[in-house]
Amino acid sequence: MIEIINLHKSFGGNNVLQGVNLTINEGESLAIIGRSGCGKSVLLKHIVALLQPDSGYVKFSGKIIQEMNQQELYEVRKRFGFLFQGAALFDSMTVEENVSLPLVEGNIKFSKTEIRKIVAEKLELVGLPNTQNLKPAELSGGMKKRVGLARALITNPDYILYDEPTTGLDPVMSDAIDDLIKDLNQKINVTSIIVTHDMFSVKNVADKIAMMYEGKIYFTGSPQELLSSKDPVIEKFIQRTGF
Ligand SMILES: Nc1ncnc2c1ncn2[C@@H]1O[C@H](COP(=O)(O)OP(=O)(O)O)[C@@H](O)[C@H]1O
Ligand SMILES: [Mg+2]
Repeated sequence: MIEIINLHKSFGGNNVLQGVNLTINEGESLAIIGRSGCGKSVLLKHIVALLQPDSGYVKFSGKIIQEMNQQELYEVRKRFGFLFQGAALFDSMTVEENVSLPLVEGNIKFSKTEIRKIVAEKLELVGLPNTQNLKPAELSGGMKKRVGLARALITNPDYILYDEPTTGLDPVMSDAIDDLIKDLNQKINVTSIIVTHDMFSVKNVADKIAMMYEGKIYFTGSPQELLSSKDPVIEKFIQRTGF
């Protein structure tokens, strides 16, 4: 379980997070929505301590991550896969080198044969077998996202953080990525935390929605509850995004 408690974060005079409270349970598929620039990516980065809050904290399995030492933090981060906005692949590296990066950088030493086997397994899982030797320039946008996802899966995480996984993809590719997110959530039982402004995708993959507004979580509930809400702020958001 992840508990986000009264999280505050400002950049200069820009008060981005103004007391975010949110609980994420194991096995959930949670979508974090809100208008562009409202702080979704900033919130995601706090969950794995890539950013430090001004106040408040994040608890992982009951332990405050802001109080952890390097080793403890390393152990926690190993349990997370992070699919960054734009996939963030290294152009000069092959697919295999990109996907295996977390293994090569980790504390445990894997043999070349082991690495090859694990990479093949993850590429299979995201529907991209036999692409090990390709370079990112040879991949479509959807394939790049999949490679990024294979890399996020390489340490067998319990949680996957997706930052705008379908942004910039055509509808067919978006559907395929949505299906993959759903599949991973159900088949290998990962907890999914998906930041998105793709409302079609939200309806497809999320069983719970957290909506950010004015630096706080304004609403949590099911997609149906969001849709049937009579709250003016939510109604306006739904209208504008075509949810
Ligand atoms: N490292 C940073 N330094 C300064 N400002 C930042 C930084 N990261 C994000 N911000 C600002 O925080 C706000 C929220 O950003 P972000 O979380 O990326 O929004 P989104 O909801 O679109 O993901 C924006 O105004 C952005 O400019
Ligand atoms: Mg963002």
